[in-house]
Amino acid sequence: MRFLQLKTKITDMSDQFEKVQLLIKEVEAAQPETAEALEAFRIQYLGSKGLVKSAMEGMRVIPAEQKKEFGQVVNLLKQVAEDKYNQLKEHFEAQKEAASVGAMDLSRPAESLPLGARHPVSITLNRIIRIFEKLGFVVADGPEVEHDWYNFTAMNTPEDHPARDMQDTFYILDAPGMLLRTHTSNVQARVMTSRKPPIRIIAPGRVFRNETISARSHAQFHQIEGLYIDEGVSFADMRQAMYYFAQEMFGKTEIRLRPSFFPFTEPSAEMDVWLGTETEEARRLTKGTGWLEILGCGMVDPQVLENCGIDSTRYSGYAFGMGIERQALRLFNIPDIRMLFENDVRFLSQFTAVQ
Ligand code: DAH
Repeated sequence: MRFLQLKTKITDMSDQFEKVQLLIKEVEAAQPETAEALEAFRIQYLGSKGLVKSAMEGMRVIPAEQKKEFGQVVNLLKQVAEDKYNQLKEHFEAQKEAASVGAMDLSRPAESLPLGARHPVSITLNRIIRIFEKLGFVVADGPEVEHDWYNFTAMNTPEDHPARDMQDTFYILDAPGMLLRTHTSNVQARVMTSRKPPIRIIAPGRVFRNETISARSHAQFHQIEGLYIDEGVSFADMRQAMYYFAQEMFGKTEIRLRPSFFPFTEPSAEMDVWLGTETEEARRLTKGTGWLEILGCGMVDPQVLENCGIDSTRYSGYAFGMGIERQALRLFNIPDIRMLFENDVRFLSQFTAVQ
């Protein structure tokens, strides 16, 4: 009984060696001719239930002193199968690529890409920027999520100042002292605290106010700010710059400066442009008065200069700020401000021809 058992073992053992040798020969002879046949080859030999794996399982019946040798033979089988597989895989992939290049029609005309259009707000902004660039202003930038100090305090509107009520503000609850800027005037403070006069900048950008959305107003809109600081800048300089802007933007026209109040300018004014009362549109836009209100402006309050570290006994300057959307509505005869923010391509694509 014992003897028999041993005999079986020996037979099993040589069977196992033989089996692996045969498999090696089989693999060497295999010639999968398609990618599918190669995949079948992979599953048959290298798959998780494949022949290499089951050959490895033969290890169980191999006596300890021959295990090493058996392991080497099985490894050889595995190596031979893997090499064959990798080599043929590369071959079939190259074949496939060559075939697809052949099928490509390189003379076919490319599909045309739809051309985008500038947004009417950008078109209006760009026109205004170009006008002020001719006067030597350069574009400056500031953050939309702003610190209270730049938006209000530096601009002469301390925390308890009633003028803060002029602009209904979105505060960031998770970040005390932070808000969505209510005007582009924050860029004035940003620039004055980081550069030395002379300063001559315009700052276009998006601003936010907690306002009811209607055909005439929105909780987000755009403004452009201007600031000029140097020695001896006067109110007359400001008026002339504003007059020049009005001529360039509206054609030959008159302007009117009405006394007003802004915390950061003294004196302050609001500028109207004469559209007249002749056309229906002009009467509608000006509510029958002929005058269209365009912007706020004034001489920079010396306190603002001091807040930003500029010597107010040496320097003076003017500032102005205006909304863009209303001008865009007028420029393109758009009836409702909400159309500017809906991103409806049927509306926006109408501006392709405009620069
Ligand atoms: N920041 C003001 C607003 O949003 C507009 C403004 C008025 C800006 C007068 C100025 C200025 O720079 O001088 O209502």
